[in-house]
Amino acid sequence: MTDLTSDFLGIKSPNPFWLASAPPTDKEYNVRRAFEAGWGGVVWKTLGEEGPPVVNVNGPRYGVIYGADRRVLGINNIELITDRPLQTNLEEIAAVKADYPDRAVIVSIMVPCEEAAWKAILPRVAETGADGIELNFGCPHGMSERGMGSAVGQVPEYIEMVTRWCKEHYDKPVIVKLTPNITDIRYPARAAHNGGADAVSLINTVSSITSVNLDNFSPEPSIDGKGSHGGYCGAAVKPIALNMVAEIARDPETAGLPISGIGGVTTWRDAAEFLALGAGNVQVCTAAMTYGFKVVQEMISGLSDYLDDKGMTLPELIGRSVPNVTDWQYLNLNYVTKARIDQEDCIKCGRCYAACEDTSHQAITMSADRVFEVQDDECVACNLCVNVCPVEGCITMEELAPGAMDQRTGKPVEPDYANWTTHPNNPASRPAAE
Ligand SMILES: Cc1cc2nc3c(=O)[nH]c(=O)nc-3n(C[C@H](O)[C@H](O)[C@H](O)COP(=O)(O)O)c2cc1C
Ligand code: SF4
Ligand code: SF4
Repeated sequence: MTDLTSDFLGIKSPNPFWLASAPPTDKEYNVRRAFEAGWGGVVWKTLGEEGPPVVNVNGPRYGVIYGADRRVLGINNIELITDRPLQTNLEEIAAVKADYPDRAVIVSIMVPCEEAAWKAILPRVAETGADGIELNFGCPHGMSERGMGSAVGQVPEYIEMVTRWCKEHYDKPVIVKLTPNITDIRYPARAAHNGGADAVSLINTVSSITSVNLDNFSPEPSIDGKGSHGGYCGAAVKPIALNMVAEIARDPETAGLPISGIGGVTTWRDAAEFLALGAGNVQVCTAAMTYGFKVVQEMISGLSDYLDDKGMTLPELIGRSVPNVTDWQYLNLNYVTKARIDQEDCIKCGRCYAACEDTSHQAITMSADRVFEVQDDECVACNLCVNVCPVEGCITMEELAPGAMDQRTGKPVEPDYANWTTHPNNPASRPAAE
């Protein structure tokens, strides 16, 4: 088994799987059981400032999007930060860290955007012996209306300012957790970097309404007939998170800034994808809430087996895909493929035909006895048929070798890489008029 020992910002953990700040990390009882199940670290449920704790709604907190088999694809929540007293949390954090020195314990914090508030809480967190802090600039509901969470994360200047305060008043690693509810994730990441952050973590939840009750006309979850937007997470948000992680990983202004990847990690494969796109470790919330703490065991064995098969170490996987992420205009326009249907596997459902016919391309024909065939002279190689076919592997995309005739264009496939920047149809590539 490949060693999964992780070193993130000098914080060692037996594996790169941390529980994200959320209900599973809200108390000592949970965190001890999580560590017994195998989690490498936790980010404790976000602490607020001293004083009466926040109050959660007493009705339902979650809205859900299901797959066809009622599998949870995404959860929307309207929960706040911890609603337990600060001192209780701090004592529990200290007790857990003392008993599990080999695991990472990070404390998530969200206090008002005033230096005095951060200065007051940071020494108390430091006393617990925790390995670092995570600044929650991400929650999109409840706290943001009070000027915290994503209200800070949406203003790069605030991020930089608060990060700087934390670096001044706290001497262990500072991780800045980013909100995805922003147009360009590179700006908050750069702000965190400029403020001296040791790392960024992302994503927090996506602002959302999952559904509307069509009897009482309230968004779900419905609290006495009213609903408010919540934060969306789980497998459904993984594509958003992967893109944002990759954007930061390949931005020259944040090059080398460590990233903790969060958002929809459910299996070891999801985790491996985040790592390949530049995350130094991953955090998990919804999968643990849905399947329980032991879900980490599949992640550990799966990632380890994968690395064994590839003959790679964990550090070699981290960032491995980053050089392969590029902008559209640099994609090779001379890479030509065509769809191929395996007639032996085809169950004659006709989905590929309907999709191709009605999407625009009319490149699949259907005979009277339901034989489906690709017409190379119409196939634009979009691969929609591959994606809608219910039989995995039944339709594949075949690359045409250089020199082979592309029936659609009537031209042989060019051997050399060529992209849009130099394409004759690109107005910007034409010589300027005399
Ligand atoms: C019920 C619930 C409560 C959460 N509370 C917090 C929180 O207190 N602080 C925080 O930084 N993130 C919080 N999150 C966000 C998660 O830490 C995580 O960023 C998000 O759920 C995406 O990861 P996932 O797709 O694995 O769930 C919460 C998420 C859920 C579902
Ligand atoms: S790849 Fe696209 S164009 Fe070609 S057959 Fe499939 S759906 Fe039609
Ligand atoms: S979608 Fe797949 S299984 Fe269905 S007809 Fe097309 S090739 Fe056959």
